[in-house]
Amino acid sequence: MKRSNIIYHQASVTRQRRNKLNNHRSIVLWFTGLSGSGKSTLAHALEEKLFKKGCRTFVLDGDNVRYGLNSNLDFSEKGRTENIRRISEVSKLMLESGLIVMTAFISPFNKDREDARKLISSDDFIEIFCKASLEACEARDVKGLYKRARAGEIKNYTGIDSPYEVPEKPELIIDTDNQSLEESVSIILNFLELNGIAN
Ligand code: ADX
Repeated sequence: MKRSNIIYHQASVTRQRRNKLNNHRSIVLWFTGLSGSGKSTLAHALEEKLFKKGCRTFVLDGDNVRYGLNSNLDFSEKGRTENIRRISEVSKLMLESGLIVMTAFISPFNKDREDARKLISSDDFIEIFCKASLEACEARDVKGLYKRARAGEIKNYTGIDSPYEVPEKPELIIDTDNQSLEESVSIILNFLELNGIAN
């Protein structure tokens, strides 16, 4: 791709100035886990708490983004990689805009998550693994998609006939099978406080 004629414009309102105005730093909280592992629920519950504290937040959610920006992508390996690449780019822009960004995508491949971390920068990237057994996710089956995948009506379903690669070194592991939503939210809030991200 030819990029030689593109020149970046340096904004005078910088991320640092936005962070100062907001009274907290911007960051990307990258939730990953099986479908039904609680990523979206947790991200939205956390957002509610942060928002009430006066933080600037936004949740990028799997299903919503796949309706719009990424509606032309499927669930093949290539489609998922492109899904995660675009979300990483959007998250990076949101990071610059001063937000606490929460992404809730299965993001099943280590390589794609590592690429996201590199693009965004490791200092600004907190990987949160929502650890739930396939059995529990399948038993809940909120959207009825596991049942359809088992019946062969949906192909390449994560956990059924498409892999989920467990994160190697996530900053946080949330055991959503055994921890309540409230407990999980406070673990993340404590982590953010300890690391001076949001007090
Ligand atoms: S990802 O793998 O590319 O990160 P993403 O988080 O955007 O996936 O979308 C996952 C959601 O799409 C699931 O929660 C589920 O509702 C729906 N979905 C539809 N088909 C599939 C599939 N083949 N595999 C996984 N999820 C699917």
